[in-house]
Amino acid sequence: MTEVKRRPDELAILGGDASFLTPLLVGRPAPFDRSRFFERLNWAMDNEWLTNGGPLSTELETRIADLVGARYCIATANGTLALQVLSRAVGITGEVIVPSFTFVASAHAFQWLGVNPVFCDVCPGTGCIDVAAAAAAITDQTSAIIGVHLWGQLCNVDELASLAYEHGLHLLFDGAHALGCTTADGLPVGTPWGKATILSFHATKVVHGFEGGAVVTNDSELATRLRGLRNFGNGIIGGHMYGGTNAKMSEASAAACLTSLESFEETVIKNQHNHQQYLNELRDLPGVRILDYAADTNNNYNYVIMFVDEATAGISRDLLVKVLLAEGVFTKTYFDPACHQMEPYSRRPWNLPVTERLGSQVVALPTGGKVNSEDIRRVCSIIRLAVLNGHKLTHV
Ligand SMILES: Cc1ncc(COP(=O)(O)O)c(C=O)c1O
Repeated sequence: MTEVKRRPDELAILGGDASFLTPLLVGRPAPFDRSRFFERLNWAMDNEWLTNGGPLSTELETRIADLVGARYCIATANGTLALQVLSRAVGITGEVIVPSFTFVASAHAFQWLGVNPVFCDVCPGTGCIDVAAAAAAITDQTSAIIGVHLWGQLCNVDELASLAYEHGLHLLFDGAHALGCTTADGLPVGTPWGKATILSFHATKVVHGFEGGAVVTNDSELATRLRGLRNFGNGIIGGHMYGGTNAKMSEASAAACLTSLESFEETVIKNQHNHQQYLNELRDLPGVRILDYAADTNNNYNYVIMFVDEATAGISRDLLVKVLLAEGVFTKTYFDPACHQMEPYSRRPWNLPVTERLGSQVVALPTGGKVNSEDIRRVCSIIRLAVLNGHKLTHV
């Protein structure tokens, strides 16, 4: 590994040595106590209860409900199935309004069920759903609005609740990024502004179970339907028009989630520290903005998001990504392309200028338990060198 770079000719893209011989990645699993995980796994295997609502997934449901401030938690195999089971349990049909600037699962989950996602634009500061744009997207086919708590920022929950109420629509939240996050009033992500919220425990999330997800809600009837629908429809008196599916969380996933949850606070502290260092190191760099999370809110800081404004920075986002890649820094352009720019949605004309602008500027930078302060110093020095010498890099 080389020292912090100070001259443009030291950049790997111009022939210098790469800064990181072991690649620095976005989305590495948060570390947890492996021996505790194996203890739980052994316990499950000794008890021969591996799935079907075993004690580990039941314990997880209690802990998650407590953490997010909801009455009921229904654990699922992943966040996408959580959205699908929720959609069926609520009876969503026709169209749902979804912000386009999100991971494509927020839309695909519905499209797979024959419900058409209608994309709306987002707010320029946060990237979260723009309520006026959501209102403009309502048609006589609209059944629900999906608020996405992007990067753990709780979207405009009160205004969305009023809009949904006014138009008689269901309101659901995709909180895949938002475990442990709150509004500025301190209200946690499971607060019932709508019918329910889904969570993801995918390997890249702040708490993970290799794969995993959940629906949290305060509605006891909905919770009963969700429990039935995730288990082939079993237990729903009189059945259900959609039958059911298999969306259950396994005990192995629950063992990992519970163990990961024990490291949650430590993970958030480390993430916050990393985020603050990126903010400090890049604060004065023209054309580069590290997304800061609103004062008074809690975030889990699982994402360090940078926006590159080419006109001011003098370098495009794509070129900066290339410069970093040559150094062994594997960034992600979350969420570019946006949902409406992907199949099967891109054939329809859309007018989402804020989404497209943010999409052209966005880069997620490496963070997490295994990224240390020296790593961040090096990454920031590369970004600084590239931005201050953008004109020397345009030919590469
Ligand atoms: C915003 C959002 N929604 C939904 C999902 C789907 O979750 P899962 O990967 O657990 O299916 C993800 C996954 O990363 C996501 O980022």
